[in-house]
Amino acid sequence: LDNGLMRTPPMGWMSWERFRCNVNCENDPKNCISENLFRDMADRLAEDGWKEMGYDHVMIDDCWSSMLRDKDGRLQPDPQRFPGGIAKLARYLHDRGLKLGIYGDLGTHTCGGYPGTTLDKIETDAQTFASWGVDFLKLDGCYSNEEDQQKGYPLMSKALNATGRPIGYSCSWPAYRGGLPPSVNYTLLGEICNLWRNYDDIQDSWNSVQDITDWFFDNQEILQPEAGPGRWNDPDMLIIGNFGLSVDQSRSQMALWAIMAAPLIMSNNLRTLSSEARAILQNRAAIAINQDPMGVQGRRLLQERSLIEVYWRPLSQSASALVFLSRRQDMPYQYHTSLAKLNYTAGSYEAYDVFTGKTLSGLSATTEFTVSINPSGVVMWYVYPKMHYEDPQDDGRYPY
Ligand code: GLA
Repeated sequence: LDNGLMRTPPMGWMSWERFRCNVNCENDPKNCISENLFRDMADRLAEDGWKEMGYDHVMIDDCWSSMLRDKDGRLQPDPQRFPGGIAKLARYLHDRGLKLGIYGDLGTHTCGGYPGTTLDKIETDAQTFASWGVDFLKLDGCYSNEEDQQKGYPLMSKALNATGRPIGYSCSWPAYRGGLPPSVNYTLLGEICNLWRNYDDIQDSWNSVQDITDWFFDNQEILQPEAGPGRWNDPDMLIIGNFGLSVDQSRSQMALWAIMAAPLIMSNNLRTLSSEARAILQNRAAIAINQDPMGVQGRRLLQERSLIEVYWRPLSQSASALVFLSRRQDMPYQYHTSLAKLNYTAGSYEAYDVFTGKTLSGLSATTEFTVSINPSGVVMWYVYPKMHYEDPQDDGRYPY
């Protein structure tokens, strides 16, 4: 969607995967869906270095609203859990340089059973969100049929535009239609939405990460060309820092999301992140690769019989990213290859190892090298052409 927003994949934090529909504030006040949770996460983003790295959205997911619309038919937040209201929460975020996302559902009810946005309510809800100072809307698709979705997703795009407030727009539409043409029209989605959920919800496990990445890369011929500045495929939230992933698996999710030009939307508890999880999520090179201004989504190049897979993404300034993923379950695997075998043209290159910080220089396309890849782990490289002379003024190709 060419609304000037999200020219690189959006970054931030969203409540769903980690905090779900926990509305039990009496017994679990720190973790229930309430204004306190979102204020706390805003504080963490602003104070713990996240905002500077680009993580600038706090996104409310389902279960924020009251069970009833107000007397004028407008959505309203649950009065016990959001006593200050959404506009005040938006101001709190804006004062800290952050943006507020909210959740709605095109249908009779949200997936969690809260009031939905039926076709006749689209304009009202767009106006309400804009009047609160909301910066982003995730529009889910539970409890609507194909015909409602065909009308409703474009209508909400128009209605958001008509508010005059810049509001990023995420459409769950394709996820409800199987994610593939002919049921899904990606040309249309790119015109009306900034991002879209194509596939199933992520869960807190490596299995779920693998299932999602397999689906996205198995369908890369269809999906990869649809992404670009202002229009992104969304494989769902980052679960790094929760319970389901090892440190190696966490690096793998970060690496694959960077290759996919995926939104980097964490769903975790920012109050209690381990230092390992924080280091992975705040890895400068991985973020820079994800946020590359050219905005070309990457691809899977190879699936070896050894269960090593190679992923590649072209980047600006003739650079590129490579990810070597091991799907083995035995021990670190010594993978031998060369850039020429990975479709690189003749020339000399350097490779910066994203997770060790080491640089490998003197690579020609035909140089054979070996990378050691841990089980369910990755080696990730930022590869750039080696300059022919040493000019200390011009090291712009090597931003880390
Ligand atoms: C659907 C969405 C999730 C989340 C829940 C909320 O399952 O795909 O991302 O928003 O609804 O109920």
